[in-house]
Amino acid sequence: MGASCVPAVESWHGTAVGVFDSGLGGVSVLHAMRQEMPHEHFVYVADSGFAPYGDQSEAFVVERAQRLMDFMMAARVKAVVIACNTATVLAVQALRARYDIPIIAMEPAIKPAVHATRTGVVGVLATSRTIASASVRNLCDTFGHRARIMPMACPGLVDCVEEGIFTGQAVDTLLETYLRPLVEAGADTLVLGCTHYVFLREAIQKIAGPTVQVIDSSAAVARHAAQRISALQKASPSTQRGRETFYTTGPLHTAQQHLATLWKADAAVYPLPSA
Ligand code: DGL
Repeated sequence: MGASCVPAVESWHGTAVGVFDSGLGGVSVLHAMRQEMPHEHFVYVADSGFAPYGDQSEAFVVERAQRLMDFMMAARVKAVVIACNTATVLAVQALRARYDIPIIAMEPAIKPAVHATRTGVVGVLATSRTIASASVRNLCDTFGHRARIMPMACPGLVDCVEEGIFTGQAVDTLLETYLRPLVEAGADTLVLGCTHYVFLREAIQKIAGPTVQVIDSSAAVARHAAQRISALQKASPSTQRGRETFYTTGPLHTAQQHLATLWKADAAVYPLPSA
């Protein structure tokens, strides 16, 4: 990874919104942010070299998140969106205490799911760490009187997305295992509590059946981020479409290849300096 691969002076320096995830899953949130904030520049960091976070210790995820935040601070981004539920539940408090910058984080869409369900049964799909977190437990306590909320840890799904596998036998076998108990219990609404799973929506819908609603929180988080940035009077004054610059801690070629599918536009990808 030569320093020459990293643009020396980027035109977004000091003006962009930072977005990070354990890998490429947060690109699902970036899509929603691009829709909500057409004129902003975005700097996206995929920590694919250290993904998945979902079964790692809290100390590991906090340490990784701090490395990524240090990069964001050096790039003088005006706000950071943690496009990762696992990093949110494990690290957001530590990050907010350490960095003096607006940090917008994920929350699984349990509240809207509880309002949307007709059968009164909601499944929540997320990583093991997210499912075991106090945040998800609190959401279940808060909304559990309105519906039966069934959390389901789904190890292996993040790896599929990181490997660029969105359909096929391996994905279907995992999804059968995770979704069957939920569907059999009558769940008609599934919450995608991991940003990677948004890229498996088609496969999830196929296994769960057409009557099951599959919902995620990317649009809500993007709206919230836009409101925060605008309230801070930091919205881009430009009328031009903003640009996206991607960084990864994983193999560059893999990121380039997968981003061609996941972002569906020309994506400049660079290795993350000193990660
Ligand atoms: N996209 C991350 C999330 O939303 C995946 C975490 C992982 O790497 O396991 O939780």
